[in-house]
Amino acid sequence: MRVADRVTVSPALTVSGGLRVPGDKSISHRYALLAAIADGRSTIAHYAPGADCASTLACIRALGAIVSRTPAPRDHEPPIITIEGRGVRGLRAASGDLDCGNSGSTMRMLAGVVAAHPFLSTLVGDASLSRRPMRRIIGPLSDMGAVFTAAPGDRPPVRIQGGDLTGIHFKPDTPSAQVKSAVLLAGLQASGTTTVSEPASTRDHTERALAAFGAQVTLQSRQVTVQGGQRLQGCDLSVPGDISSAAFMAVAAAAMAGADVSISHVGLNPSRSALLEVLRRFGAEIEATVDDQWNGEPVGRLRIRHHRMTDLVITPDEVPEVIDELPVLATLGTFGGSVTVSGASELRVKESDRIAELVAGLRAMGADADERPDGFQVRSGKRLTGGTVHARHDHRLAMAFAIAALGATGPTHIEGADAVAVSYPAFFDDLERLAQRAESGPRA
Ligand code: S3P
Repeated sequence: MRVADRVTVSPALTVSGGLRVPGDKSISHRYALLAAIADGRSTIAHYAPGADCASTLACIRALGAIVSRTPAPRDHEPPIITIEGRGVRGLRAASGDLDCGNSGSTMRMLAGVVAAHPFLSTLVGDASLSRRPMRRIIGPLSDMGAVFTAAPGDRPPVRIQGGDLTGIHFKPDTPSAQVKSAVLLAGLQASGTTTVSEPASTRDHTERALAAFGAQVTLQSRQVTVQGGQRLQGCDLSVPGDISSAAFMAVAAAAMAGADVSISHVGLNPSRSALLEVLRRFGAEIEATVDDQWNGEPVGRLRIRHHRMTDLVITPDEVPEVIDELPVLATLGTFGGSVTVSGASELRVKESDRIAELVAGLRAMGADADERPDGFQVRSGKRLTGGTVHARHDHRLAMAFAIAALGATGPTHIEGADAVAVSYPAFFDDLERLAQRAESGPRA
């Protein structure tokens, strides 16, 4: 699906209807990486359709895993991905660079995989990824025995001479699921025991995925331990819908009078669903029902209805669990109710400087918003006018601006809107189906 570079989003009266969002990006990366080093065949249904997870597949294929796609049994479902694993430490050297595209998750977690393989790997990325810090993985993986070189400031390209690793007890300063995962993936392939003690909880998909592939993982409050030398068993997996993609529609539903949106088959892992509590605090009515467990991941239904709006303060301790949702949560302040976020300086080293670019974009649409070194404030009281904004090659900014645009008085032109292809290629189609406009009348 190709998305236009420039997309215009018109104001809407409200949003209503039902949808299913694409497969979870975080979980898809992990299933692909683990399948590549598992024994035997794995199949992955509802693998995330975006470019980021395609980068992970391309990298594991370059490292010798056989990856194929077969049509899903039902129409309109993404193809099933089949991966023939090469076993723990069984990958072979790629003949060229491993291109991680725009995906920080691919680069950081793949580093943990190749660090245990006795060959040189070069991990490269696009202009945005090439600006992102990699010291956070270089530190612990070097301590385990891998040898790194990187560009100045420890940025990509990252060259990794892998080999025999030794387990460590790692205590990161900054909470990061990518870093925790990189160390656990290396630890699985190391000698001895590897423990990660987190300063704050982060998403636990790697822990659940390791268990789904048959590995033993020990959890004790914010401490995860994996024993090296375990084998992984290929398996059949299904990826729940991505709650971080659902977040865009959920925020629109929380913000717009009369809104009522239902989302099916969505991942409801507690380490990802803090967003729901934040939206409840804002005043939305939310029903979240877990129907099933897919490979250890809770899956269910969400219904989000607008109720009322209050001022929202997101504190530093809440940030790690809503880090990807902060750009869209900011837009709540443009509908009524102000939004204040602190302790979120990590946003400055995401796909873009999400503090500076978010505030710049919302202001260009008429918002009363300010940057802070570690966050932002969006004040209520000013209805947006719309205008022209730039997504700065950042998928979550493109989608956040589209949500804000629904509440403006005039159209919003989003430059660089094609960035949504990274995580949610059908975003604008889904949004248009939910948006209710006077001229077209309510849609089912
Ligand atoms: C992710 C972890 C988070 C998140 C990113 C995906 C993951 O990054 O922002 O979009 O899949 O583990 P950090 O680990 O850098 O916090």
